[in-house]
Amino acid sequence: MTSKKRVGVLISGRGSNLLSLIEACKQPEFPAEIVLVVSNRADAGGLQHGTRNNIPTQVIDHKQFATREEFEDELTAALEAEHVDLVCNAGFMRLLTENFVDHWLNRQLNIHPSLLPSYKGLNTHARVLADGSLITGCSVHFVRTEMDSGPLIAQAAIGVVPGETEESLAARVLAVEHVIYPYALHLVASGAVVVENDRVKYGDKLPDLEQPENGSDWFIVPRA
Ligand code: GAR
Repeated sequence: MTSKKRVGVLISGRGSNLLSLIEACKQPEFPAEIVLVVSNRADAGGLQHGTRNNIPTQVIDHKQFATREEFEDELTAALEAEHVDLVCNAGFMRLLTENFVDHWLNRQLNIHPSLLPSYKGLNTHARVLADGSLITGCSVHFVRTEMDSGPLIAQAAIGVVPGETEESLAARVLAVEHVIYPYALHLVASGAVVVENDRVKYGDKLPDLEQPENGSDWFIVPRA
């Protein structure tokens, strides 16, 4: 195969999505490898997933910088020092300015625990329950300056079940996040998708997707 895309992952917290990407990248045929993990918080639990898997980690504390742009320039310098091709935001909880977004345009992915463009921002599951929504899910998209916005790459939906709590819903959506993010990265890194007119365009051949055990209660788009 052609050489693997070099990926930098940005985190702020526990890093369970980072771990799902690390595990996916261990597959020999996976078209990407993680070469750097950066956290804006020194106490991010997810940093341990990097160190345990021999991936370089860095803490770049946004509070040490006078402006968002200076923080972002430091992020870009760290990513470029590792010759990163693609950036994956995995629970990275900083708003990004066009300075960073434009630099990594169509090379930066984000995962969000809702069916975008619905329920951008925080507390998505509580709001889904408060609205009585019957379906929710998660989305992976290319990053734009507006929070949780940008061309959608893949989405997965699950039904909201009777008796659901915020915690149960968060856990069931997270399990699906762990499938969809590696899948979306596979699509991008393999060149199976491109962005045209600010929409994702899918090639003829999409990679196979392994269905999770509870596959009967969710579905994913696009289907290979
Ligand atoms: C995930 O649910 C992710 O979708 C969400 O933060 C969580 C991080 O968990 N991201 C956003 O809300 C982005 N707007 P993790 O650290 O275990 O991957």
